[in-house]
Amino acid sequence: MASSAGCALVTGGAGGIGREVVRQLAERGLHVIVADLDAEAARRAADEAGAASSVAFDVGDAGAWKVAVDAVEAAGVPLAALVLNAGVALGEAELLDVDPAAYRRAWSVNVDGVVHGLRALVPHLVAAGGRAVVTASLAGMTAVPFDPVYAMTKHAVIGLVRGYAPTLAARGVGLHAVCPGLVDTPMLGAARPELDRLGFPLVTVPDVAHALVSCAVGDDPSEVVVVQPGREPVPYRFAGVPGGRTGSPVPALPSRLPIGTRRSV
Ligand SMILES: NC(=O)c1ccc[n+]([C@@H]2O[C@H](COP(=O)([O-])OP(=O)(O)OC[C@H]3O[C@@H](n4cnc5c(N)ncnc54)[C@H](O)[C@@H]3O)[C@@H](O)[C@H]2O)c1
Repeated sequence: MASSAGCALVTGGAGGIGREVVRQLAERGLHVIVADLDAEAARRAADEAGAASSVAFDVGDAGAWKVAVDAVEAAGVPLAALVLNAGVALGEAELLDVDPAAYRRAWSVNVDGVVHGLRALVPHLVAAGGRAVVTASLAGMTAVPFDPVYAMTKHAVIGLVRGYAPTLAARGVGLHAVCPGLVDTPMLGAARPELDRLGFPLVTVPDVAHALVSCAVGDDPSEVVVVQPGREPVPYRFAGVPGGRTGSPVPALPSRLPIGTRRSV
């Protein structure tokens, strides 16, 4: 179904946060494409939201993104918003006990899924002057002893957003990372009873979704936004790092600099 507000694609759109993002974007008049590994749940989320369709693929598989590109082109309206939200946690504190396949999966979904998604759909976002938003996490900004691998993947995508946002901004596209604390979704899994026992405050799904949707459709230039229970989303400013003591002013680096060895692989 064509929408004058354009279309949006939401990965992990059948899950706890994604489903609500889909609902809120559809409410704003966008045609929403629900992308998820779980085809049946994606279809249900699309039906529930109305003004939505669904595609099923693994976001960590670069080639599989063709399905998403085809769906965006089939929507027949510009891609206004890309919400890269699919993610998985491991819940393992001891690196020695992390199953290699689980490690690969976490990197594939949480990092490759964002990189492949941007590479597949940035041309469409540039054509539309759209926005891309990554669901990162506070785990990408703080130490998380109960899941260091998950924390590593979220640090990685925040680094990508901060590094790539200026290049995309010059092409008229916003790129944001939204960083919630613990959110009340199925991802909490078996940890939920312990969090309840501790009385640990959880972020609500509508609050996280609202922050993601605000970035996806608004003009806020914030690159990184923190979402914590009971407060408005907070634009996050990273502290500067100590500079060198060279005795002369350090020049600003250009936005393009060919570092690396550039060998063919
Ligand atoms: N729940 C939290 O406490 C919390 C906190 C901070 C950040 N986050 C992040 O929010 C995002 C959404 O998490 P959620 O809490 O809604 O989790 P969820 O488990 O409820 O939903 C995740 C969705 O992603 C889908 N998915 C998983 N692997 C996929 C793949 N390879 N390809 C396509 N889809 C895939 C799942 O089928 C599911 O529908 C994740 O990136 C997560 O890291 C969650």
